[in-house]
Amino acid sequence: MKAQNKVIVVTGGGSGMGRELVLNLLTKGAKVVAIDINESSLQETVKLAVGNAGNLATFVTDITNKQAVESLLEKAISKYGHVDGIINNAGIIQPFIKVNDLNYEVIERVMNINFYGTLYLIKTFLPHLLTRPEAHIVDISSMGGFLPVPGQTIYGASKAAVKLLTEGLHSELRDTNVKVTVVFPGGVKTNIMSNSGLADRMGSGSEKGAQNILTADKAAEMIIDGMEQGKYRVLVGKDAKMMDKLYRLNPAYAAGLIAKKMGALLSSK
Ligand SMILES: NC(=O)c1ccc[n+]([C@@H]2O[C@H](COP(=O)([O-])OP(=O)(O)OC[C@H]3O[C@@H](n4cnc5c(N)ncnc54)[C@H](O)[C@@H]3O)[C@@H](O)[C@H]2O)c1
Repeated sequence: MKAQNKVIVVTGGGSGMGRELVLNLLTKGAKVVAIDINESSLQETVKLAVGNAGNLATFVTDITNKQAVESLLEKAISKYGHVDGIINNAGIIQPFIKVNDLNYEVIERVMNINFYGTLYLIKTFLPHLLTRPEAHIVDISSMGGFLPVPGQTIYGASKAAVKLLTEGLHSELRDTNVKVTVVFPGGVKTNIMSNSGLADRMGSGSEKGAQNILTADKAAEMIIDGMEQGKYRVLVGKDAKMMDKLYRLNPAYAAGLIAKKMGALLSSK
């Protein structure tokens, strides 16, 4: 689905890839409904949308609140008349610790945001999207949604749930006007560590290893290209593309490679 003249809802529009998705869609001539739990960062996005802010509506919403998500449909329709697409981007990671050490409160929070938040948006907007001439659902999973990353196992499980939810929807909706795309980003430079309440030990800032990491605006460009081309899946970044091939060729080897890399980080806790 082409973005021009469409109305598209983006979750997590206050930071990182979500913010860049909002800005990119606006420059392509879309009307955007950006939602985020963080009001001040959402306001930053509005400031950055200079010249296009008239086509941007923002709502401070916690996507784990089903009633609040359900009220978004009405708000978006009263603002722009209809909705043509949703991009489920909001998400958090977990602390870098093993499942054995992770408490249920954290596990439920990760599942509630990454999986149930995505599901609430889909269940709320899908009946309306089915009435549109063309529509699109884009869900952001992760490289960690197909490849096990020790210390991010519950995050990975939540993103694997998003992967299968999205792929299942794609099959269920194949004869309808609603197209569906699942996105697997590799490493992207954003503030996801601090936004997830974690100290930045992975170097999303200035560390050496972070210098080659993909920027959020490039990632957003690839995601929107994928939507506009109606792709089934979008692998964002060389790391995601490479690990996707390797994992399909030899899952145990690929998992071992990541486990070795993560081992040092986990044991340095
Ligand atoms: N950055 C990466 O390396 C990377 C890699 C793979 C996948 N991803 C995924 O991409 C997506 C975007 O990540 P990012 O790196 O841009 O992160 P980010 O932290 O920069 O942005 C995420 C946004 O989601 C918002 N959010 C969090 N919980 C929310 C809630 N309950 N309700 C509404 N909004 C909420 C945050 O406030 C934040 O503005 C996430 O789903 C993440 O899991 C990121």
